[in-house]
Amino acid sequence: MASISATNGRGQEKAPLSGGVALVTGGSRGIGRAIANRLASLGASVAICGRDRAALQDAAEGLAKTGARVHTQPADVTRAADVAKLVAKTEAALGPVTILVNNAGMGLFGPAHEKSEADWDRVHNTNLKSVFLLSRAVAPSMIRRGSGDIINISSLAGRNTFAGGGLYCASKWGVIGLSGCMAEDLREYGIRVSVICPGSVSTEFSGRAPKDSPKALRPEDVAHAVEAIVMQSPRSFLSEIHVRPLRKP
Ligand SMILES: NC(=O)c1ccc[n+]([C@@H]2O[C@H](COP(=O)([O-])OP(=O)(O)OC[C@H]3O[C@@H](n4cnc5c(N)ncnc54)[C@H](OP(=O)(O)O)[C@@H]3O)[C@@H](O)[C@H]2O)c1
Repeated sequence: MASISATNGRGQEKAPLSGGVALVTGGSRGIGRAIANRLASLGASVAICGRDRAALQDAAEGLAKTGARVHTQPADVTRAADVAKLVAKTEAALGPVTILVNNAGMGLFGPAHEKSEADWDRVHNTNLKSVFLLSRAVAPSMIRRGSGDIINISSLAGRNTFAGGGLYCASKWGVIGLSGCMAEDLREYGIRVSVICPGSVSTEFSGRAPKDSPKALRPEDVAHAVEAIVMQSPRSFLSEIHVRPLRKP
């Protein structure tokens, strides 16, 4: 959690997340990359994961320019063994995770009755099971320390329904449900679980071209919401944030 008024011993104000360790899943591009950069610029050490090693390397070079300590690790967040290794190696490299951002996700659209069981598993394992696996992996050490932020990236699709959204909406509604329950499980230990629901953001989400409208949400807008959550005064927490474009693209 943020320590807003600390100084570095020379009377200069310390970066607010100095000493913190953020783990951002899917931090190699899009929204996750913007979140990782924002947390690094606020002074946190940052770990990112994804499956594409080249994309991770590219993101790590950008992160290093902020002066942050950085750990990158290829990992598939749908696999419990990868997740356990990811958390263990992050903690060995940077220290205990104080901020977890469950951002990795995928989109798959079309009528649910035309989708296969494998489609269902892929979407739910990536968007929902991963949140369970990662949160479960960091919770014990956050409980021991009596603090921590777990921030889950859902979607406005997790509060709405639309034709062709069956699998994606179900997974993102699930993320909101899991977040609310985990918030209740963990608040007594000083751990804040929050969920962010962005509208459509200009990224290469699941292979589509980024929107070119200047009115469209950008990854930095979601990173700004993450900053608001981690900078919130310690007595309170922002449980659910909806991020919408000001003007409709
Ligand atoms: N873009 C939007 O309009 C929008 C709106 C609302 C919510 N969201 C949510 O925001 C999150 C990020 O979306 P985005 O637009 O930034 O998508 P993106 O550009 O496609 O990036 C997705 C990130 O997740 C990683 N990832 C995907 N599957 C993974 C897996 N199995 N294991 C590890 N990493 C995995 C990807 O890396 P690799 O492919 O290399 O693994 C990549 O770093 C998602 O949860 C999405 O549902 C997006």
